[in-house]
This record gives sequence, C-alpha cells and structure tokens, in this order.
Amino acid sequence: MTHPPALQTPASTRPASATPASATPASVKPALAAKNLFKVFGRAPQAAVDKLRSGARREDTTDDGTAAVIDASFEVKPGEIFVIMGLSGSGKSTIIRMLNGLHEATAGSVEVQGDALTGVGAARLRSLRRDRLAMVFQHFALLPHRTVAANVAYPLELRGVGKTERLAKANEILALVGLEGWGDKLPSALSGGMQQRVGIARALAADTDILLMDEAFSALDPLIRREMQEQLLELQRTLKKTIVFITHDLNEAMFLGDRIAVMRDGRIVQIGTPEDILTDPANDYVEQFVQDVDRARVLTAGNVMERPRPRVDASAGPRTALRQMRDAYMSAVYVTDRDRKPLGIITDRDAMKLVRAGEGSLLGTLKPLPQSVRDDDVLMNLFVPSVESPLPLAVLDADGRLAGVIPRVTLLAALGPGPTSTEELTVLPQPLPSAEIDAVLDGTSADAGVTASETEGVR
Ligand SMILES: Nc1ncnc2c1ncn2[C@@H]1O[C@H](COP(=O)(O)OP(=O)(O)O)[C@@H](O)[C@H]1O
Ligand SMILES: [Mg+2]
Repeated sequence: MTHPPALQTPASTRPASATPASATPASVKPALAAKNLFKVFGRAPQAAVDKLRSGARREDTTDDGTAAVIDASFEVKPGEIFVIMGLSGSGKSTIIRMLNGLHEATAGSVEVQGDALTGVGAARLRSLRRDRLAMVFQHFALLPHRTVAANVAYPLELRGVGKTERLAKANEILALVGLEGWGDKLPSALSGGMQQRVGIARALAADTDILLMDEAFSALDPLIRREMQEQLLELQRTLKKTIVFITHDLNEAMFLGDRIAVMRDGRIVQIGTPEDILTDPANDYVEQFVQDVDRARVLTAGNVMERPRPRVDASAGPRTALRQMRDAYMSAVYVTDRDRKPLGIITDRDAMKLVRAGEGSLLGTLKPLPQSVRDDDVLMNLFVPSVESPLPLAVLDADGRLAGVIPRVTLLAALGPGPTSTEELTVLPQPLPSAEIDAVLDGTSADAGVTASETEGVR
C-alpha cells in the first residue's frame, strides 16, 4: 500500500480532543443523544416497529415497510468525532437525517445538547437545525450560480447578516480550509476536493457546535480523500466541534473516529474506539470488516508501546546504569529526570568509562535523546523515527514525559492481526559482554552519592 507524502506531517496525528472526549464527566450533556430510534419507510411503519420490538426480524416486516433503522441508541460526546460506519443500505443516512430532523423518527427520541429534537413543532425544529447543526453532503450541494464566497456565506445570509460582514467572514473561513483567493470563482471552476472544502467551509460558517457529515469524502478520489481526512483532523484540532461522520469505509472510520458505531441491516452492532473494534470485534460481521483495516493509520504509539525499561533516573550513577544495561542486555538506556522527562541516553561504553574513572554522575556524558514520538502518533508515522533511533523508540506523553518505548519488532508485530504487543527487544549495537561489565563493576568502588532511589528505574 502506498501513502501520500502528506501523511508524514503532524497533521495525521489524532487531535488532542480524542482523549478528553472519552473522559467527559457525567455532568456534561451529550451533544447528541439517540434513544431507541426506529425509522420504517412504507405502508405501516408503526406496525413494523411493534413487531420489531417484540423480536421480529427485519425480513419479517417487509409487508409493512422498509425498516431502515432499528432500535438505535447512542450518545455523541461534545468534541468527539463519532463515526457511523456500515455497508450501503445499512441505514446510516436515515440515522443522520433523524439527527437533524430531516426525517421524522417512527419511534424513539433525539436530543440535541439536552433539548428534544423529536416531537417539537416546525418552527422550533427549524431554529434548532439552524443554530445547532450544520450538514456537509456527499455531493457538495453547492449553489452553481453563486460564487464560492457567496455559497460559504449562505448560512449567514439566512440569519440576516449583512453582505459585507458575511463575505468577510466567508473569506476568513475559506482561508481556514485552504481556499484563500478562490472566493470570487464559481463552484464549477473548482476540483471535486476543492468543492467539498467549500461544502465544509459553508458548514463552518453556520458556526454550530455540531457538524453532520454524510459520506462527505466518498465522492473524492483516494488521494484527495486521504488529504481531506488529514485536513479534517487538523481543523478539528483547533475547532473542536462535535462531528458525526458517516462512511461505508472502515479505514476512513478508523482514521477519523474517536468512536465508531458499526451498522448492519438497520441495527447498530457495535460501538467502540477504533482500537476496541480492531482488537475485539463484537461479532463475525465486524471481524470480517476489520480484516482489511490498515492498522498503521489506526493504532497509535500509545496503543502499542511497552514500559520504558530500563529507564535510569538522572540521580543514579554510572554503576547503576551499567548494571541495568547488563541485566536488560542493552547497549544504551534512556536517562530521565525526576518527572520522567528524558534528558538523553547513556551507552554502556560511556558508563563503563565513567565507572573506571570513578565518576559519580551520568549527566556530563549523556548523548542527545534520539528522535522521539508522541503517544497519539499513528504507527505509520513511526517507521522513520524507529529506524533512526538506536534504542526502542521513545514515546512521550502530552507533558513530554517518557510514557513508553516501542521496539522495532513490536512496531512490525502491531501491523499484523492478533495482540498488539510483544516482549522482545531489539538492540543495536551489540551490548558489551556481561563478564566484561562485571569485571569493571567488581574492580571499582560504589557510585558516589547514590541513594536507594537509584533503583527506581529497574522494573
Ligand atoms: N425515503 C425512503 N423511502 C423508502 N426507503 C428508503 C428511503 N430512504 C432510505 N430507504 C431505505 O432504507 C434503507 C437504509 O437506507 P440509507 O439510510 O440510505 O442507508 P445508507 O445511508 O447506509 O446507505 C435502505 O434499504 C433504503 O433503500
Ligand atoms: Mg447513505
């Protein structure tokens, strides 16, 4: 599989919102909540719902109509990208259309930011739709005879914002999606990818907390599509919208989603993080889907890292470092400060020299920290750093602390099916023979100023 060079940029790391979104306290209202939603198209929708509720299969209700959505319940947390994924015809569009009131639910309820959207009057529905939900469509749905800027400004026009102000705002948003200077063109002058950026800009102009995107990238060719996925995550980093994103493509779902709902034949069969779905598919159906996933774009460094072992505290001396390298059969180790922030690495050769010289501190002899990665970097961005790092790749958390390490074998193993971690370690160059280390350790005195805490790094 080939990947566009853009994937090497930081844009393809997951947005920081991925983590907080899953840790929303119970007091925060969900951005969207669907409860036992049903939608049946046809002659006798209510009869079909009754039958489905008492256990009928979808096929058993075809005389009453098409059960497009069956008993769907889920909550979307503020700031998360919630993906609804399923094959064509599984009911995805019908769900998203119930979320914004374009379809009336046959049964069940939808709440937006704690307020009922189902069962409200037409005026209330219009205002909820205008103020809280913006939609991006698969086929862009741009107005062909209006300029790009006028298309983007459209939601503002509906709100009665004056022309100068709304066009200024539109051009600002166009810059945000990489279309600076295109405002005066007609949509037909733009490529598909650019037109969809206009679609996104228009949704952003509505300035709602929630974006609904129905197969927004599905009409684009694969390379453009990848680029758009990256840019959406990049935008999301700063905008932190709540996004419901629909796709039939599991790779896209896995790449974008903080959580994914998998649909089959009108029902939601699993809801989970990409990693949940990848490593613990709820049933054979999901498992089949998952076989084709490009794990390199889904799993993050944090998903596959191992404990940083050994890790030497800066206050420890060369003897301690050397002993730990001997025991772990490694030729170098990471040295961190008290906060676990990495300071550099010490090699067994250097530590041995220090021991021989009776030197008590490691600090003067550290080699610079090799390239490190963030815990939310996707595996695909780890290959180059991993090859360049003489030690198992250092993984830092958001505060710059050493959170774990990834040996090259672990990185490779993570790309295959099955467990995502291995205990093996790869080390270059060859460590010193332990007999040689023992001879040096035995022939010299203990580290100066070493306290019990020096063994903290040993696990
Ligand atoms: N307006 C409609 N009238 C009748 N049947 C519909 C209508 N919209 C969707 N359906 C049917 O509902 C099912 C789910 O459709 P849809 O929600 O569009 O699926 P998806 O978006 O996952 O492809 C399909 O069987 C489709 O034919
Ligand atoms: Mg659809």
